[in-house]
Amino acid sequence: MIIKKCLFPAAGYGTRFLPATKAMPKEMLPVMAKPLIQYGVEEAVEANMNTIAIITGRGKRAIEDHFDYSYELEHQIKGTKKESLLSDVNELIERCTFSYTRQNEMNGLGAAIYKGETLIGNQPFGVVLADDLCINPSGDGVLKQMSAIYEKYRCCIVAIQEIPKDETYKYGIVAGNEIEDGLFIVSDMVEKPKPKDAPSNLAIIGRYILTPEIFGIIKDTKAGINKEIQITDALLNMAKKNMVLAYKFKGKRFDCGSIDGYMEASNYFYQQTSKVEKSTK
Ligand code: G1P
Repeated sequence: MIIKKCLFPAAGYGTRFLPATKAMPKEMLPVMAKPLIQYGVEEAVEANMNTIAIITGRGKRAIEDHFDYSYELEHQIKGTKKESLLSDVNELIERCTFSYTRQNEMNGLGAAIYKGETLIGNQPFGVVLADDLCINPSGDGVLKQMSAIYEKYRCCIVAIQEIPKDETYKYGIVAGNEIEDGLFIVSDMVEKPKPKDAPSNLAIIGRYILTPEIFGIIKDTKAGINKEIQITDALLNMAKKNMVLAYKFKGKRFDCGSIDGYMEASNYFYQQTSKVEKSTK
């Protein structure tokens, strides 16, 4: 079964970016002139996931407006050079359907994903955490890579990356047996362990392929660290019954949920565009 739907949990407060995120969703923070969530939706569309499901919350309406036409603005810039600045987002609006549901209480990523059940239904789906900006300059995007693995193994998959051991407390950490180059069967998974308790230095990055059985499992998963329902705990429960894979993706990831990662992404994209401009001059 081809994966057509992609879920974007986007209800979080983005406290690390206050005051910028006081009245604006963190997913709308731009890298260059493009909001983070647009990078994520473009990655989903590249992987043929054109049905976009977004979990929003209070104060997040700008996301809905972003993925809709703005007739007044378009009228103003029609026939000018600026018209082309909207062409990428307009193409997404034409190619995708967007649906939204609200998470009323912030009680963890697992709870956010569970909220998506009404939008997703009974089919496998991708998940993108938009503040992990992922790119692969030399090939397929991360979701497309993961979709191809899903085609072969038909099970839940998490994207992983090696991180310095002293940073395990920021991530879900997995341990597993390598069955193909960079592909592991998950044997353990811990959300935000202290370095001394971490089973490895393989950290989950904000890309997942999930099968619909996950909804029932989340429902039975108790609150974990920070008293939140963690998708990592639900996936460990899944791994005890079915195979769950962890995939060391090809490409680069910027942690745009932190100021450092966000600046790094901005510098990287800025340098890329200035390289292109120089080469076309
Ligand atoms: C979430 C997940 C965590 C994962 C991380 C990736 O944590 O719970 O397992 O490693 O995303 O960015 P958060 O960053 O939302 O605290």
